[in-house]
Amino acid sequence: MSKLTGNAIFGQSGGPTSVINASAAGVFTEALQQTGVIKKVFGAAHGIVGILNEVLYDMGKEDPRELELLKTTPSSALGSCRYKLAKAEDDDTDYKKILEVFKKYDIRYFFYNGGNDSMDTCSKISQYLQQAGYECRVMGVPKTIDNDLFGTDHCPGFASAAKYIATTIMEVYLDARVYDTGMITVVEIMGRHAGWLTASAALAAYKGKGPDLIYLPEVDFDLNQMMVDVKRIYDKEKKVIIAVSEGVQTKDGRFIPELVGDVAVDAFGHKQLGGTASVLADYIKKEIGCKVRGIELSLMQRCAAHLASQTDVDESFLAGQTAVRCAVDGMTDFMVAFQRPEAGPYACEIKLIPLSDVANAEKKVPREWINNEGNFIEQPFIDYALPLIQGESRVAIEEGLPRFARLKKVRA
Ligand code: F6P
Repeated sequence: MSKLTGNAIFGQSGGPTSVINASAAGVFTEALQQTGVIKKVFGAAHGIVGILNEVLYDMGKEDPRELELLKTTPSSALGSCRYKLAKAEDDDTDYKKILEVFKKYDIRYFFYNGGNDSMDTCSKISQYLQQAGYECRVMGVPKTIDNDLFGTDHCPGFASAAKYIATTIMEVYLDARVYDTGMITVVEIMGRHAGWLTASAALAAYKGKGPDLIYLPEVDFDLNQMMVDVKRIYDKEKKVIIAVSEGVQTKDGRFIPELVGDVAVDAFGHKQLGGTASVLADYIKKEIGCKVRGIELSLMQRCAAHLASQTDVDESFLAGQTAVRCAVDGMTDFMVAFQRPEAGPYACEIKLIPLSDVANAEKKVPREWINNEGNFIEQPFIDYALPLIQGESRVAIEEGLPRFARLKKVRA
């Protein structure tokens, strides 16, 4: 494969994770070392929006120690976006602008870090550049706490969120039992269409301090059946913990907050979720009359760098680093993906998946990993998730508080 010389750009897109910047560190560290082919490394402010608006940072001007600190700094250091590109055949305005910016800054390497929607963006840009005859290597770097990207065993960001969720539920379990009176706790977990994250509540149950009931979006949610489940446990134990995905839907396709009102919609047509726990808590309180708390883990589950999995940090860095190495070696139009050996101890092996295969596809929790009643998780999920949450990431501490990366963000 021919040597392609020019500049590189990296952007972050979609919902952040606690380890998304570890991938950024992987891209920047590797790209800045590829001095024979990559001359300058840029970071795009707010992903594709920064490219369209020409807000680019010169990453070569950053202190290498701050780039190292990115590994333990949560939440899209360059800024993120949820910007949907039109199909080029319908409206090519954005594509023309992207090409203009790429030509102006001699961008020959484009790395985009995101989930399904972002891989769609990446794929569309790659196709447009090819059709325009502009040589540029495009690589997707996976990330999403939702763990729903097609073609990869798991996604960077998922394990750290899973570790946070399982740990937090174990702590809540102890607190929710202190009184001699009845108590029901509803914990709401992110994951729009896939229940991987909510399933991670089962890791707490595996340790004997977890939820009694777990509801995933993979199974139609039936409010009446949930009440039957809750009453059965409450009558016996006087304590119930429910883990529920923000993405559970009734058989007729309504999210729980939609049972009591309208919800906003983003650029990709995704409904703004959140509020499931409080709706269910109010309902259960009316039905049973005991003390009920609704807890929405919300942003905490995706920015809790203090509880990140070291395995996840290392693999996220590896994903970014590998994307650069593969692009320099001549690969384009792929997303970096992970696989594990079919037998034996866990290991993270790299493979490449065509971007067009990943774009907009979603990987759900296998139905057989959920019990027949649709209200709990089976052992195969535990076996799948446990290796991923291993290892404690050590956040740098200054005066007793986290010392996150401070980027200078020098405009290119
Ligand atoms: O990126 C995935 C995710 O964290 C989902 O789990 C969640 O539903 C969504 O993003 C929330 O998006 P936003 O931060 O844009 O409200």
